[in-house]
Amino acid sequence: MITGLSHVSIAVPSLQAAAQRLKEIYGLEAGAAKVNEEQGVRLAYVELPNARIELMEPLRPDSPISKFLERNPAGGIHHFCVNVNDVAAAGAGLARKGIRILGGGKESRNVHGDRIAFVHPKDFLGALVELEEKRLGIGGAL
Ligand code: CO
Repeated sequence: MITGLSHVSIAVPSLQAAAQRLKEIYGLEAGAAKVNEEQGVRLAYVELPNARIELMEPLRPDSPISKFLERNPAGGIHHFCVNVNDVAAAGAGLARKGIRILGGGKESRNVHGDRIAFVHPKDFLGALVELEEKRLGIGGAL
């Protein structure tokens, strides 16, 4: 069901400051920022050969990322994301095993237009896990 690692996501108080730091210290280049209105975040990605680093900055106080930063003011790892061939099928299969999919499995998309879903952290060893649809053989970002 899981075909690879898409990205690791870090919540940051300032996207610009985070991107600057990654560039200065590690020589990593973050791409242009994109907005996900539905999730209330601005995002930028560092492309690595085998996965991406996602940087997330809250857009508004009611964003889930704002709540995360209240608990972790300097930022920190928020979730990681794995690829699946079919988000709906993967979610339904997990639900049959009693695994909670956040948002009741309602269809959701990321800033690239890929279908996504989130598995409840209590059902994945304490980590929030995003499922991202990347059909094998159909070109995606990676
Ligand atoms: Co993500």
